[in-house]
Amino acid sequence: MLVIAMDGPSGSGKSSVSKGVARALGLRYLDTGAMYRAVTWWMLRQGVPTDDPAAMAARAGEPVLSVGTDPDAPSISVDGTDVARPIRTKEVTGAVSAVAAVPEVRRRLVALQQEIIGTGGIVVEGRDIGTVVAPDAAVKIYLTASAEARAQRRSKELTGASVAATQADLARRDHHDSTRKADPLARAADAVEVDTTSLTLPEVITEIVRIANG
Ligand code: ADP
Ligand code: CDP
Repeated sequence: MLVIAMDGPSGSGKSSVSKGVARALGLRYLDTGAMYRAVTWWMLRQGVPTDDPAAMAARAGEPVLSVGTDPDAPSISVDGTDVARPIRTKEVTGAVSAVAAVPEVRRRLVALQQEIIGTGGIVVEGRDIGTVVAPDAAVKIYLTASAEARAQRRSKELTGASVAATQADLARRDHHDSTRKADPLARAADAVEVDTTSLTLPEVITEIVRIANG
């Protein structure tokens, strides 16, 4: 059962690369960032203040997530509602790092992620996969790219967002994600670092498939 852990900062290419690698190797695909976004969407909808860690901790056990792992049709729902689109809004993106810093939220999602991973071969992308969620993964990749390249890629996906504003948002989120106490964004000691700044998406996928085939 092959598990590939894919970590890295925002916009380094984790989602696109992970889906491509999963397709190439016939594996499932799990977007753990979507799970943190789904809990954030639920907290906002319930009116739980996302600047109040204690309030979020008290409600962390309530939302019921369901996650599909087909790389060609990933899906996510909360309490039966499909949230694939609403979890990508500015409001959710702005609040997700604060929600993801709450230990009670992480404990619950990490347990669910480990349950999903336990049922077969999979590419799992996130911030703490190689360090916390799947420390025994056979293949660990840490994707990087320059701050400029990451901002340029992300602002291309968002209509009306300037590169400068996007770069500031990514920097804020990366800082929050890598300095929090619970499961911070970190490169596992045994992860292979792949810098995607001057590579194309197919080149990155080919390189990781080569690493996985070892
Ligand atoms: P992350 O999941 O790390 O936030 P995404 O995969 O969502 O990153 O975003 C990366 C974006 O950059 C996608 O639109 C992707 O097509 C684009 N991109 C351009 N060049 C590359 C590359 N060399 N590797 C990965 N993604 C790339
Ligand atoms: O795709 P993007 O880089 O915008 O982010 P994402 O992968 O959707 O993750 C959104 C947020 O969830 C991150 O900024 C982290 O705060 C959190 N996250 C996390 O804490 N741990 C993970 N394993 C995955 C995401």
